Amino acid sequence: MKLFVTGGAGFIGSQFIRFMLRKNPDTQIVNFDKLTYAGNLDNLKECEGNPRYAFVRGDIANAAQVRKALSGGGFDAIVNFAAETHVDRSIGSPSDFLNTDIFGTFCLLEAVREFGIPRYIQISTDEVYGTVPVGSCTETAPLNPSNPYSASKAGGDLLALSYFRTYRTPVLITRASNNYGPNQYPEKFIPLATTNALDNRPIPLYGDGMQIRDWLFVEDHCRAIQTVLMKGKEGEIYNIGGDQERPNREIAEMILALLDKPNELVRHVADRPGHDTRYSLDCSKLKKLGWHPTIPVEEGIRRTVEWYRDNRWWWEKIKSGEFKQYYQEHYGHRLDESTTPDKEDEQ
Ligand code: NAD
Ligand code: DAU
Repeated sequence: MKLFVTGGAGFIGSQFIRFMLRKNPDTQIVNFDKLTYAGNLDNLKECEGNPRYAFVRGDIANAAQVRKALSGGGFDAIVNFAAETHVDRSIGSPSDFLNTDIFGTFCLLEAVREFGIPRYIQISTDEVYGTVPVGSCTETAPLNPSNPYSASKAGGDLLALSYFRTYRTPVLITRASNNYGPNQYPEKFIPLATTNALDNRPIPLYGDGMQIRDWLFVEDHCRAIQTVLMKGKEGEIYNIGGDQERPNREIAEMILALLDKPNELVRHVADRPGHDTRYSLDCSKLKKLGWHPTIPVEEGIRRTVEWYRDNRWWWEKIKSGEFKQYYQEHYGHRLDESTTPDKEDEQ
């Protein structure tokens, strides 16, 4: 199988490439990535020199670059991970999100038609359903995004579905819950909390910290995408959840306990605008294809914390670069006005 993977230098895309090359000796992969602040070729060191792997720098929102990269031909599928992905950044500066997550998706869909590529997987998110106060969403739940990131992802999904209905473009969509694991950019909650705790710095917890996310270990996600790639049906959507719903505060305390650090490092800071209080997915459709999540969050967090503890080289250069200014602008004033959890809460 010859795959065209977009956004493969990011967190999940790079895990997927490594996973597919390891598990499938006949698979060849071209990784097409713009290398934004979140793209990192350090994530793919193990693929360097592998004759089944090639990297092409390019932008999915640039039709000419996409066409040029695909013109070598013979691709069996496109798996589109490329996106702007951080909700907080989408609130401060939405335009890149619309450009990549919607217009970039459009460019890829057009290329699928032009080159007659037999399969297109759109990697999407549970955030498109918006907050889920009770119960769990199936794939037919209405879309109700709360922020520019999730609205852009919902736009990409709707465009992809419209191509299936209008042109019979062979589109499949996956909607995953919160991923975590090694190589995740430290703007996201788990790597931010872990690396801050390792440096004895405060962990900023938005609002009361009781917002619930369903944590999916990244390897479980990669296996799920492989299942959809091999067994999924065109025009269908598949939810992918970890069955591990936990409040953020519990996650922060789990990380602190693993590192033997005090709960006083947690700081309640001003909440994210439009913050979704709970995500929850019904994944029975994908489970019928034989996939199940395998990593309980306690084990996944232990493995993740150990990885960040042992790979300072990977995240220290990120945190001392572009990230430093972002952190100051995003958290500086919030941390100045933060509070620690009171004694009663800690018991
Ligand atoms: P990431 O931010 O770590 O990586 C994104 C990658 O896309 C980077 O390598 C970046 O350089 C590349 N990219 C960005 N814009 C591009 C463009 N215009 N052209 C080409 N490449 C571009 O993201 P991630 O967390 O690995 O997420 C990957 C995908 O999975 C995204 O589509 C995201 O919406 C989806 N998703 C993520 C999660 C999660 O918890 N992280 C959960 C569900 C779905
Ligand atoms: O649900 C899937 C989505 O998960 C993906 O589509 C997104 O790409 C990915 O970024 C993630 O979105 P979240 O907004 O849920 O992830 P984040 O790591 O930013 O935040 C997780 C939770 O932690 C959320 O409730 C906000 C909270 N949080 C986050 C940060 C960065 C904090 O309390 N403090 C923080 O500093």
